[in-house]
Amino acid sequence: MPEKFETVTDKEEVQRQLAFIESGRQFVDNLKTKLGRTPKACVTTFGCQMNARDSEKIIGILSNLGYEITENEDADFVLFNTCTVRDNANQKVYGRLGTLHGYKKKNPDMKIALCGCMMQEETAVDKVLKSYSFVDLIFGTHNLYKFPELFVQMMTRDITIVDVWESTNKIVEDLPIVRKYPFKSGVNIMFGCNNFCTYCIVPYVRGRERSREPEEIICEIEKLVKDGVKEVMLLGQNVNSYGKNLDRDISFPDLLRMVEQIEGLERIRFMTSHPKDLSDELIAVMKDSKKICRHLHLPLQSGSTRILKAMNRHYTKESYLELALKIRREIPDMAITTDIIVGFPGETREDIDDTLDVIRQVQFDNAFTFIYSKRTGTPAAIMENQVAKEDIKVWFDEVLSLVQECARTQTAKFNGMVADVLIEGMNEQDANLVTGRMSNNTLVHFPGTADMIGQIVNVKLEECKGFYYLGSVVNG
Ligand code: 5AD
Ligand code: SF4
Repeated sequence: MPEKFETVTDKEEVQRQLAFIESGRQFVDNLKTKLGRTPKACVTTFGCQMNARDSEKIIGILSNLGYEITENEDADFVLFNTCTVRDNANQKVYGRLGTLHGYKKKNPDMKIALCGCMMQEETAVDKVLKSYSFVDLIFGTHNLYKFPELFVQMMTRDITIVDVWESTNKIVEDLPIVRKYPFKSGVNIMFGCNNFCTYCIVPYVRGRERSREPEEIICEIEKLVKDGVKEVMLLGQNVNSYGKNLDRDISFPDLLRMVEQIEGLERIRFMTSHPKDLSDELIAVMKDSKKICRHLHLPLQSGSTRILKAMNRHYTKESYLELALKIRREIPDMAITTDIIVGFPGETREDIDDTLDVIRQVQFDNAFTFIYSKRTGTPAAIMENQVAKEDIKVWFDEVLSLVQECARTQTAKFNGMVADVLIEGMNEQDANLVTGRMSNNTLVHFPGTADMIGQIVNVKLEECKGFYYLGSVVNG
């Protein structure tokens, strides 16, 4: 078992980095004079909600440095916040870097930076330095808060700056953030992961589990609510082990009770729950809560006890089923979604049958299905019996079609009902419609206007279209 990991919240470091933002502005100002326009910066995010939140922090810093933020990668500063959980995420980054090189040839003042999980891997950094030497700055997940300082270095030196740390015990808060949505926000409650599932690279690139102090979390959410946020997503690789490294005795259900008290906050979501640590206390807190959304993401990975053991997941087919069915019984309107990996080393037809059986019994409301991706450095990468591609394809299609069938059945259950929906934006296809989410995460499209974005309204669910609804607002 990894030992307890002390964390320190470093307030002085925040001041240092704020000073670098001040001095960094002169470089952006000079560039503005040279170009005769405000320089533009683009941040592209790969991967999960954690990365999305980190990108908001980077955009906050870039805005304060004086950049105009754009979504177009033909910009004066482009940063890729990378993911390495599966190999296809890495390949996407290499492909997109080629395109950036073309832009840089046309715009010699352009700067390119890479950060995030992929940069925590030495082989990836070596490859970038060797084959993509036009990249100006590389940093990792542990020193994201140092971005202002690294930015200044990048602007003053003509070599690729590389600053990647193996780990950290520092939590540096309160640097500027620009949120993507005014009405909802992710909130980190912990960083890192101690679980070491044998297929997963996250513990190696995100480091050991570190929880934030509850006061810091509450204070951040209170500020967000004052700023117009109605829904928060509490983020951690395994929220159910929140608090384990803190000096005081506090659990995830305790934290949820505290968050529930925040006046003005209307919806609470969280991600991700490891089934091995999901307590009865958490089920009770969810059941009693007026604010916790009716959606639980509970990654299964495999339905076969034998494979779960090889994955180091610490639960069995039976214990997962017992847990999921208990949640279904206790909180019938709770949507349960999951992650499933197909093609883990040594997997057989019988194992896939177990996975299909669990899907059938739990009737997941939705599931992400992934083909196993070998990650160098993880125990599974050197396991024997890597599964043949042809088998994986057949099994993957079977799993996917069952998952979709369950998702359709589950979605259809709400036909004709009235649900509260948080309006997230205009519909991308039809300018007369807005799009929002039910508490259980189902999407609903209905007639509305831009001024309604961010409101929670009651919507009659008139027509189920498979995985989403068409509806209309009802009064009251
Ligand atoms: N191959 C395929 N899927 C993976 N995941 C994590 N590591 C791998 C891997 N090596 C999936 C798991 C996890 C989700 C975030 O990504 O299902 O829950
Ligand atoms: Fe990876 Fe397992 Fe940690 Fe999730 S719990 S991040 S799958 S090691």
